[in-house]
Amino acid sequence: MTQNELKEAVGRAAIAYVPENCIVGVGTGSTANYFIDALAEIKGQIQGAVSSSEASVARLKSHGIPVFDLNTINELPVYVDGADEINHQLQMLKGGGAALTREKIIAAVAEQFICICDESKLVDVLGKFPLPVEVIPMARSHVAREIVKLGGHPAYREGVITDNGNIIIDVHGLSISQATELETKLNQIVGVVTNGLFAHRRADVLLLGTANGVKTIK
Ligand code: A5P
Repeated sequence: MTQNELKEAVGRAAIAYVPENCIVGVGTGSTANYFIDALAEIKGQIQGAVSSSEASVARLKSHGIPVFDLNTINELPVYVDGADEINHQLQMLKGGGAALTREKIIAAVAEQFICICDESKLVDVLGKFPLPVEVIPMARSHVAREIVKLGGHPAYREGVITDNGNIIIDVHGLSISQATELETKLNQIVGVVTNGLFAHRRADVLLLGTANGVKTIK
């Protein structure tokens, strides 16, 4: 199977976690796009979605799926999203698509986080993929200096402005064995909006696309 076929398989498998008549949380990226396309096939059975990026909002609307403002809803049973890396404790590194802050907000509201990935994303230790940090633009140099003190190598993601009007610094050279501690330390740097470690709020279920089918890991 190709990587895209694995992504499509997990996107479809996640539909089983969507309760009838609910509003569903929808993430961002190529794997989440397959989930959106599968969701379109059952759109008559849900009220609609909340979404972590303008790109996913556009894709949902193109399928005729209503998109709600997160502030107008009372409950969110499930959030479905991809990841750039996930470890065996279901801690994730996310934000390759620059949508990390809205992803983290929706994940915080959702009762269940269903992570959908192809098997290339499962790792023993997070950090080979550069860790994205969303930063208020005027704090860029300050945050970069503080990241160096933590042992990382910061790289400004040129030409990228997030949906919230901020910039992204990608942190290279980290081997993240203490993910919850690093998530907290990075968030304490003044000027950081959030970082792409999802360690405090991990996934509840991983649907992993493999050559032998979709594996469910809890
Ligand atoms: C978006 O900001 C990310 O967190 C995505 O969830 C992540 O980059 C996974 O994307 P793909 O499904 O395209 O690999």
